[in-house]
Amino acid sequence: MNFHIMTLFPEMVMQGLDTSIIGRAMENGIIDIEAVNIRDYAFNKHNKVDDYIYGGGAGMLMQAEPVYLCHEDVVRRINEGRGRDGKEPVSPRVIYLTPQGRVFNQKMAEEFAKEEELILLCGHYEGIDERVLEEIVTDNVSIGDFVLTGGELPAMTIVDAVSRLIPGVLNNDVSAEFETFKDDLLEYPQYSRPEVWHGKRVPEILLSGHHANIEKWRHEQSLKRTAERRPDLLKRSAVTDDENNEKRQKND
Ligand code: ADE
Repeated sequence: MNFHIMTLFPEMVMQGLDTSIIGRAMENGIIDIEAVNIRDYAFNKHNKVDDYIYGGGAGMLMQAEPVYLCHEDVVRRINEGRGRDGKEPVSPRVIYLTPQGRVFNQKMAEEFAKEEELILLCGHYEGIDERVLEEIVTDNVSIGDFVLTGGELPAMTIVDAVSRLIPGVLNNDVSAEFETFKDDLLEYPQYSRPEVWHGKRVPEILLSGHHANIEKWRHEQSLKRTAERRPDLLKRSAVTDDENNEKRQKND
């Protein structure tokens, strides 16, 4: 999978992602991440990409044209590469990172992981001229109800969450299968050696070797933990259960 991050701060993005698991996945050629500097597409001699806001208001806005030219160039290069590999041209999804977007979650990560090419657009200052957003953006995505100084950290968050779902990125493919948010539940508590630490024993059942009982205990712990920490998730899965039951009844 190939990620293309349009940003004014390419070093920030690449330094953040070029380490640990994601860095190794890049090295192994399982994913590719490029950060493209929007400033390289400024159409004036000072490489200026921002300007005052019509109608007044604090701060500056990123102008439409450099963002537009940068996007055109990224798409052209993607399709040149695909042509060389004998693949059909694509018009990749463009994710604009904004606190006004749909709030990112694991389901969205799974949806994005199906794409071959993904473009992420990072705004800075007070944002980007609405006209270019209307023309190129397919998904407005937020990482939570708070305001950051730019879209770079959200873009890195999304690249990380999506990458770890790509087969081969995690050493242990099973660990992406049984984890927090699977079926809208938080993961059960886990323990490693020693058996007793600070006077606390590892729950006896985990030492029993009885797999069916361990699975049952873990599921109960997941439900308990979700009820305590994220009751909203239980409500959500109850709603989908109801919906599924309704559909089943209709089909019967
Ligand atoms: N840009 C600024 N704040 C943001 C947020 N919470 N999510 C995504 N992009 C942002």
